[in-house]
Amino acid sequence: MCGIIAYAGHRPAVPVVLEGLRRLEYRGYDSAGVAWQMRGQLHIARASGKLQSLEDKLASMPAITATCAMGHTRWATHGAPVERNAHPHLSNDSGLAIVHNGIIENYRELRENLEKMGYRFYSETDTEVLINLVSEYVKSGLDVLPAFAKALKQAHGAYAVCMLSKDEPGVIYAARMSAPLIFGKGVGENFIASDIPAFLPWTREVVFLEDGQIVCASANEYSVYELDRLSLAAAPVRKIQWDMQAAQKDGFKHFMLKEIFEQPRVIRDGMTGRVQGEKVVLPELDKLPVPERLHIVACGTSYHSGLWARYLLEPWAGIACDVEIASEFRYRDMVLGEREMAVFISQSGETADTLAALRKAKAVGVPAIGLCNVVGSSIAREADAALFTQAGPEISVASTKAMSSQMLALALMAIYWGQRKGSLKADAEAALLAQLADLPALLDDNLPEMRKRAKELAQKYAQARNFFYIGRGFCWPLALEGALKLKELSYIHAEGYAGGELKHGPIALIDASLPTFALAPEDALFPKIKSNIEEIEARAGRVIALVNPGSDVSATDVWAVPALPASVAGFLILPALQLFSYEVADYLGNDVDQPRNLAKSVTVE
Ligand code: M6R
Repeated sequence: MCGIIAYAGHRPAVPVVLEGLRRLEYRGYDSAGVAWQMRGQLHIARASGKLQSLEDKLASMPAITATCAMGHTRWATHGAPVERNAHPHLSNDSGLAIVHNGIIENYRELRENLEKMGYRFYSETDTEVLINLVSEYVKSGLDVLPAFAKALKQAHGAYAVCMLSKDEPGVIYAARMSAPLIFGKGVGENFIASDIPAFLPWTREVVFLEDGQIVCASANEYSVYELDRLSLAAAPVRKIQWDMQAAQKDGFKHFMLKEIFEQPRVIRDGMTGRVQGEKVVLPELDKLPVPERLHIVACGTSYHSGLWARYLLEPWAGIACDVEIASEFRYRDMVLGEREMAVFISQSGETADTLAALRKAKAVGVPAIGLCNVVGSSIAREADAALFTQAGPEISVASTKAMSSQMLALALMAIYWGQRKGSLKADAEAALLAQLADLPALLDDNLPEMRKRAKELAQKYAQARNFFYIGRGFCWPLALEGALKLKELSYIHAEGYAGGELKHGPIALIDASLPTFALAPEDALFPKIKSNIEEIEARAGRVIALVNPGSDVSATDVWAVPALPASVAGFLILPALQLFSYEVADYLGNDVDQPRNLAKSVTVE
């Protein structure tokens, strides 16, 4: 996730901006840069890699006395993590500089128009297109503020941007649309950043900018405008009480909780640019044929995403699917047929078993797609095609938002291949996309209430030494994931089962000391899971049943979440499971973000 910091004040601005960037490092990045105004000119310095490379570059430059500057850390989503794609970007005439977080969906079209007018582009970014569009409007006679607003109105997508103009020394322009941006009000100095920690040493007074707002700030003044008509907007100043750690966690107690609550944003971002009208566009996959058989290979949580996605890929795209654990796939003698392809899912992109499995697939001639969160990771680089989940850095060792982002990307892949194959009717596709588009708001509305219920149940069940999780169909992989989350966070032994398997052995274990978490939404398999719950209760087993409102399931504890079509219900059930495990672990006093014995990225076999 990119980080932005801008400063206008009385101090040397570049060191302030560098310190701000350092404070945003926890968000993850692969390149960094700064821009500053000095002697009537805009200057930039950029470097790939860590901040130290940028600092080394700056140290070799003549003294920088600027008191207005902005900086950026880039987490590559489009375009390789190299210096030419790093921010800031300058307009062709070097009159404007910009830093940007987000995606301008229609940048290709805007770029083509600008190219026809003679503009040249030196990076693969959408950002460079935006700054030249503003520049064009300034050249046509508009002042900087209306030119900025006019260009932003043409940009579709999500953004947080900061801009400097060579002709307006000491002034920062910034705007936000579906990407975080916060104004920091100091004394004789002002700040703009994508997150509060960036300016916390200097001010605790903040304005949370809203979508569709522009701010124009100098050392002693600032104004917030509505982008629409450039009318002045209300901008209440709030006082932040958090310390640095809490600020990085956005006020949440743990990174895991913050990341669970980020899932609505992750789903929104994952669709941005990939859903255009009623079509899914995945140019990354255009050059590969539609597979006839797909191997999905991954570990841990990523493996569970793959298992879940099989329930979509087979009916929507008509592609036969095998889902396999990477550590098994890499050593198995396989029989391969024509038109086979493999998808390697990995949040980190560095998991040793998944990487080895990818190399094996390539060695036997199976085209490999990497579905990763970390751009520039080994799996992304070695795959024939890489698709990024765009979840932003996941800091908690227990994976949460990465799984929703993988599920979303896999659902889009199923629709995309269904489109190409003609196996998915246009009206079905439109309905699926509408269901996905509704998810972020639904999650935003329900997560706080779900957390409360998770906490009540966690306190009641935290003393259990063993747990079963059961589900059927789409809910079976989610049951596996629920059990994995509980194990890794609470150290309570938990097993996930397909409900239908209970009677083949595990039911022998059921008694009053072994609770079961049953996933029982009202889908096609509801009557089946309902009878599984009855079988458990008949043996004195306690059951937490996750159901839909009005369900007639009888269980020890019922947890009702809104009813959704089966293909998207997982996006709501998953956070319920995550929240339950989180609350159990927190209640037990465990180290939630760094559970014992676990590493975020397993780079050894
Ligand atoms: O980075 P990857 O997605 O390849 O990681 C795979 C697993 O190591 C990971 O999902 C692990 O199971 C997590 N601890 C789950 O919370």
